[in-house]
Amino acid sequence: MSERDLVAQALSTALEGQLSQEEILSLLENPKSKDHGDVAFPTFTLARVLRKAPPMIAKEIEEKLPKEGFEKVEVVGAYLNFFLDKKAVSEATLKAILTQKEHYGDTNIGLGQNVVLDMSSPNIAKPFSMGHLRSTVIGNALANIMTKIGYQPVKINHLGDWGKQFGLLMVAYKKWGSKEEIEKAPITELLKLYVRVNAEAKEDLSIDDEGRAWFKKLEDGDEEALELWKWFREESLLEFNRIYEMLDVTFDSFNGEAFYNDKMDEIIDLLDEKGILEESQGATIVNLEEYGIENPALIKKSDGATLYITRDLAAALYRKRTYNFAKALYAVGNEQSGHFKQLKAVLDKMGFEWASELEHIPFGLITQGGKKLSTRQGKVILLEEVLAEADKLALTQINEKNPNLPNKELTAHQVGTGAVIFHDLKNDRLNSFDFDLKEIVQFEGETGPYVQYTRARSMSILRKAEFTPDENANYSLNDTQSWEIIKLLQEFPQAVIRASEKYEPSVLAKHAVNLAQAFNKYYAQVRILDENEEKQARLALVYAVAQVLKMDLSLLGIGAPDEM
Ligand code: ARG
Repeated sequence: MSERDLVAQALSTALEGQLSQEEILSLLENPKSKDHGDVAFPTFTLARVLRKAPPMIAKEIEEKLPKEGFEKVEVVGAYLNFFLDKKAVSEATLKAILTQKEHYGDTNIGLGQNVVLDMSSPNIAKPFSMGHLRSTVIGNALANIMTKIGYQPVKINHLGDWGKQFGLLMVAYKKWGSKEEIEKAPITELLKLYVRVNAEAKEDLSIDDEGRAWFKKLEDGDEEALELWKWFREESLLEFNRIYEMLDVTFDSFNGEAFYNDKMDEIIDLLDEKGILEESQGATIVNLEEYGIENPALIKKSDGATLYITRDLAAALYRKRTYNFAKALYAVGNEQSGHFKQLKAVLDKMGFEWASELEHIPFGLITQGGKKLSTRQGKVILLEEVLAEADKLALTQINEKNPNLPNKELTAHQVGTGAVIFHDLKNDRLNSFDFDLKEIVQFEGETGPYVQYTRARSMSILRKAEFTPDENANYSLNDTQSWEIIKLLQEFPQAVIRASEKYEPSVLAKHAVNLAQAFNKYYAQVRILDENEEKQARLALVYAVAQVLKMDLSLLGIGAPDEM
């Protein structure tokens, strides 16, 4: 039970049903200063209802309050200040972490149901962008978090491997491409072709027509078009897979847009049967005005070609049938929120109740020097290079701090790449942020390396003390220095649930930073290894910190080296 639950329970007993547990919880505050205890309850709301002076109410409640679990409860003006029983809370918290270990904080909220995560989903023949990085790491963290609360995640890479741009790319390849060059550096070469063909198509309208014709051939199963398409796809996947390996992210399915090519007729037939298709200037659309959506969903173009949303409709139906998901989450940039509104609305209009289980998980842009990055002009950062550079920066710092560390390369990779992931997850996901690698890989500040370094420090203390926790012992601490840590340790299970409810991995990144900071303060103030009767309890605290920091990191998809 969290400290707030404990307080709310006591208050609800004292209030004899005048306020519900939930109302009480919503009124509880964190006192500004530690002298005012751990949790405060203001009585103004009650005072209005009961038409009595707040301080008087505070006193009355205090008299009826059960005192178990509290060191003391003070009335200060209109407030009741609760001081928790540090000994009891620390004992229960340490016991839970030391016995449950990596299962501390596990719940079964999800009841084993499937959650489909549409994540990463880069586009074939185009570079893996920073946006795709965000989708990958947010999706992966959410999969871990959903697992922790008892769901079964299904991670789907909805590859952008279909669409008009492939027609254009074929035109470009036939005009200017070279097989050898592409095999040497597929994405770089394909991107060059893509940028050139887009530029020339602006001048020469016939190129666009040619592109459309090639894409039509592809949709109709023309052999040459299919062959080229397959080759572009394979070469691109080779590069993407290298990135996934660096990020240590795996998928349950790579069914991309092309996979739905033969599943589109059914969707169009269904839409037709329900009578919701309309013709508009030769195209086929679904009107969504009744959903407050101005733009109709464009299902089929005048030449019969299907669109992004048509494939997403087919994908949603296929996923419902295949995985019977309880939720379907789409980790995709904020700029596509219009698309997902349309998608949900069309499914709803088709009469699928499960449309409400689809949820777009949007996120902000990564900018550089305050500017947006765009592929179409060829302005991109190659992610593989970014990660390699991050690892290199981490290695430089390790060489300064701990040159004799065994397995330096592996640790540098965990730290460097972990730093990029952490930076991506530490802010509320809707925030845009600037990407400055040097800052990201710092060992100080609110960074991934700082959290990892703090945990490595706690591991080194444990090694020095040769400490192994005794699962039968009752470790407890009563001092104010350790209390700040105990409270954070105790909040971890709640943090996991909050992260899952808001689809917000940053809750855990922030928890990790707070815990690391609290531990470093403790480390500076307390002589942990001094011999006295509290030593074992202090070491149990260090052990618990190491355990929980590792869980925070691992839920975010980041490794935790024991030494660095
Ligand atoms: N390939 C798309 C892009 O790069 C993202 C796909 C997102 N997933 C989806 N089901 N639409 O913009």
